Amino acid sequence: MTATLSAARVLGHDVELEWGDGRPRATLPLMWLRDNCQAVESQHPETKQRIVDTFGIKTDIAAREVALEEHGRVLKVEWAEGGHVSRFEARFLSALRTNPEVLAVRYSTWGRDDIGEVLPEVPYAAFMGEEAALKDFLEKTARFGFCFVEGVPGTPEATKAVAARIAYTRETIFGGYWDFTANLEHKDTAYTSMAIGPHTDGTYSIDAPGYQMFHCLAADCTGGENVLLDGFRIAEIMRREKAAEYELLTQVAIPGQYLDHGRGIHLMARRPLFRLDDAGELVQVSYNNYDRAPFALPAARQKAFYRALASFNALCNDTSLQHRRRLLPGSVLLFDNWRVLHARDSYTGYRRLAGVYLNKEDVESRLRFLRTRAGEAI
Ligand SMILES: [Fe+2]
Repeated sequence: MTATLSAARVLGHDVELEWGDGRPRATLPLMWLRDNCQAVESQHPETKQRIVDTFGIKTDIAAREVALEEHGRVLKVEWAEGGHVSRFEARFLSALRTNPEVLAVRYSTWGRDDIGEVLPEVPYAAFMGEEAALKDFLEKTARFGFCFVEGVPGTPEATKAVAARIAYTRETIFGGYWDFTANLEHKDTAYTSMAIGPHTDGTYSIDAPGYQMFHCLAADCTGGENVLLDGFRIAEIMRREKAAEYELLTQVAIPGQYLDHGRGIHLMARRPLFRLDDAGELVQVSYNNYDRAPFALPAARQKAFYRALASFNALCNDTSLQHRRRLLPGSVLLFDNWRVLHARDSYTGYRRLAGVYLNKEDVESRLRFLRTRAGEAI
């Protein structure tokens, strides 16, 4: 649907806009309109970088005339001084948001039964060869927090190719692409065959990896089933049923740490289990009880914190929220490490797991680009 304007008028130092579809009026300061002018001398036509001198614009800048053109599809502003004219598409003005970096399409939270019905996956050949399939994969990942690529050759090369199709690999203390069997080369339980409870990775990292990719290259073992949990669903349940505990977990910043003095490493970072953005929207779930560093709160708050953490942990162990699946060669899993918790049962035998971390911003960047190419809102 194309947005159109039905009226535009100057009110003091603002322009008030009325919309063809009757939605609430919008008010934009004239200074804002001059600062965001789309003309080639004000903004680079390709990179959209600002060229206009923001600080050379008078805060009381005046317009000679504002008018609608092209049946309300364009707003024209003729400035009082300098003879400059700015034009804005109604579509551009109607899409303005305070938080333009947040992806426009909202996520759907899930439990075991919901996700069992829609199991997000795309086929490997299409994923590698067709832009629409890559977009479909990223849309599913944005919506559900994970998606599988199915039919991938069980080789390191194919795993790397799947990752490279999405974004470049993130380098960390574990390297870039990793590929391991159980050993303690890294001082981390992930490199053993023990059970690992639900967690997100990188609670010790200021910018925790946005996405993690797994490909099980060999599974000559018993046990070792993988578990995925929607942290955003857990947040919804806590907000509804244990509001005070939920709020506490949005406030208490929990430190995580990774210690390997042998390699000269001591990483630390701190954030709430439920991290909200400036609009109060949940943007990240961070939880790794193994990596929680000692920290002290006032005693009463400390005890309340343990109660809230126990409620969160109980939901993590609620099987009606768990999507369980044994990873096998051929299935590459990508999941949102800012949302989906992962866990693994213990196993006996031989298992070879490979994967990469990808940055949050790079995966979102790819999806924004593909949405724009498809003519969709970002
Ligand atoms: Fe992990």
